Amino acid sequence: MNLDRRRLLSLLAGAAALKGAPRPLFAAPEPGLKEHAAARGMVFGTMVLHDQIAEPACREAVLREAGMIVPGNEMKWRPTTPQEGVNAFGPADSIVTFATENGLPLRGHTAVWHQNPPVWAMQRLSGEAGRKLILDHVRTVVGHFRGRVQQWDVVNEAINPRDGKNGLLRDWPPYNEGGYAFLADCYKAAHEADPNAKLYYNEYDLEYDGRDYELRREGVLRLISEMKERGAPLHGLGIQSHLTVGNDFSEGVFRRFLANVASFDLRIMLTEFDVSDRRIQGSAAYRDELVADAARAFLTVAFDQRAVDGLMTWGISDRDTWLTEARPRIDGGVQRALPLDVDYRRKPLWSVIAECFDKAPPRR
Ligand code: G3I
Repeated sequence: MNLDRRRLLSLLAGAAALKGAPRPLFAAPEPGLKEHAAARGMVFGTMVLHDQIAEPACREAVLREAGMIVPGNEMKWRPTTPQEGVNAFGPADSIVTFATENGLPLRGHTAVWHQNPPVWAMQRLSGEAGRKLILDHVRTVVGHFRGRVQQWDVVNEAINPRDGKNGLLRDWPPYNEGGYAFLADCYKAAHEADPNAKLYYNEYDLEYDGRDYELRREGVLRLISEMKERGAPLHGLGIQSHLTVGNDFSEGVFRRFLANVASFDLRIMLTEFDVSDRRIQGSAAYRDELVADAARAFLTVAFDQRAVDGLMTWGISDRDTWLTEARPRIDGGVQRALPLDVDYRRKPLWSVIAECFDKAPPRR
């Protein structure tokens, strides 16, 4: 740059600052969370729904921040197979096209989930025929996206120790009757359908202290070891990471759990991160501070474990968080659970995620 041009730029910058403009027009864009993650050999991504990325503001925010995406609903069994024999991949395909056009790797979510069989299949899941129906679905859905999905949450939320069934598995006919052998078959079917995809088991309530969390962690470790013994192609664990301000989090407990998972030679992703502020009242600034503190405590420990490859948030902006409806605040307001506010502006949670990536030990 010659001297005159440099002087002109600095004059323009000064003028912009005097006018109170947030940033001069020619400033390099601030790096997004994806750049903070990539600098450590990690990944930052977000969940999207197909109608969200059709909106320019959301699309732009996703492209600015995310280095990976996952559909929140579109790849599940119910939306992809509304009637027997009828495949409806359109909305999921539109997300895959968006990812391909923008060079974004994809997570697939999720092939087997007790909450999401289509209505026509719900009463048909018992016995060998029921398990075959599920395995056929795994082959169909994973096969449809073959070569385009890098990581699949093949099975979601199969552990529920309180059900008191089958060595910590959830009370659901396919698990009651098929046990771990059936789960291993799900991974084998997914692997046949897309041999290059990395296959994950995805689970919630693994993060905090207390008996229920402890038992679920135990259940996950048991599931992993059962898959390994059966030679099932399980490559990673997805820790959903739906946090809540005010829950008890012990660094040592979570650190040990991550180390135990890593000792099975599995990769780990934080797959559905958000921070519920439903228990706290006060100004937005106060709530944002507590949300950011809770995130910092958790992410510092998580990112310290080198088997943790990255973080996906369950939506990019508070405008779209599922928590506002599913876990309503007493004041009925929007939960401030995600890195961007309802106008897609960066919040303290954004800064803490960036800071935790910046401090993480480099992966490669
Ligand atoms: O797409 C239709 C839309 O056309 C229609 O107008 C609207 C009316 O209700 O429904 C829309 O579909 C909804 C879809 O979300 C997109 O908004 C479905 O009814 C609704 O069931 C679906 O909910 C999703 C839910 O999983 C069930 O699949 C949520 O978006 C999604 O956030 C939630 O995600 C789960 C994870 O998979 C597993 N972990 C917990 C997490 C939160 O519950």
